[in-house]
Amino acid sequence: MITILGIESSCDDTSAAVIRDGVILSNVIANQSVHERYGGVIPELASRAHQQNIIPVVHDALQQAGIAREELSAVAFTRGPGLLGSLLVGTSFAKGFASALHIPLIEVNHLQAHVLAHFIKEDAEDLNQPRFPFLCLLVSGGNSQIIVVKSVYEMDIIGQTIDDAAGEAFDKCAKVMGLGYPGGPVVDKLASQGNADAFTFSKPHIAGYDYSFSGLKTSFLYFLRDRLATDPDFIEKNKADLCASLQKTIIDILMNKLRRAANDLHIKEVAVAGGVSANSGLRRSFEEHRDRYGWKIHIPKFSYTTDNAAMVAITGYYKYLKGEFCGYEATPYARVYR
Ligand code: KG4
Repeated sequence: MITILGIESSCDDTSAAVIRDGVILSNVIANQSVHERYGGVIPELASRAHQQNIIPVVHDALQQAGIAREELSAVAFTRGPGLLGSLLVGTSFAKGFASALHIPLIEVNHLQAHVLAHFIKEDAEDLNQPRFPFLCLLVSGGNSQIIVVKSVYEMDIIGQTIDDAAGEAFDKCAKVMGLGYPGGPVVDKLASQGNADAFTFSKPHIAGYDYSFSGLKTSFLYFLRDRLATDPDFIEKNKADLCASLQKTIIDILMNKLRRAANDLHIKEVAVAGGVSANSGLRRSFEEHRDRYGWKIHIPKFSYTTDNAAMVAITGYYKYLKGEFCGYEATPYARVYR
């Protein structure tokens, strides 16, 4: 029996989870509301909140899993990419915990973990996992990538954003409309009441499978500036239509490239991961692609879309099987993909 404690602290969610032989036993997440009033994550405040949350969150994860710490086989932690101060809290905690229990330490790449969230089993009989090779659209607040997943250990990034991520496009445009932070879920909600064809925003022309979202953000900003010059209530009057049109544009940009990759590589098994995979329009678009192009789609449970330690624990589980442990000298990394 292999029992892994996962620790996630890369941004503003402190999370701990326990996975036993690939099956989820607990997944506890503490969100940080302290950032809402600033319209974005303040790294210094995030680190302090992680420091407050980490011990209670781990305690709850072990308790909900119904296991004693002595039953753990290893501790897996997110080493990067993410906010350095936040990562330091999880990394240091993981080292101390593993050291005290005399068990191995496993470093996990946050992005690989988002993809491997699809391999978390709800129970021992759960066989609903993607088959290799599959394509994964990884869309979060910091990343937008198309990944060819050849095995749990082998992934090729064939396309990624050259500037902003899809989640950033949602959040920054929402901020311009005064919708608070994070804006993605608010845009999603308002979009359901609006007309997605009400407004048209320009789409980028980028080679290959790469993405770009900074142009959309700028064109959205200029569009609003021009309309507000003649009608100060323009946003208020058109909020739902603006959200629906913006959401449609972001989804079109994402799906056009993904569809091209699927066609070129003759892959019909397609997954989505990351915070933006909670978006109802994107989920619908995946279903439409399934019906129209015969894709077999994999959409994560909502609790595995945003940052969570279950995905870190499942990645740790697979690394444990391969004996991929790390030493106590491992330090977090903010950006580099490994
Ligand atoms: O994966 P995640 O929790 O954090 C990162 O590692 O980046 O993703 C957070 C991002 C934010 O940009 C947030 O606005 C976006 O995911 N998001 C959504 C929705 N829920 C979360 N974007 C659009 N629609 C949603 N329902």
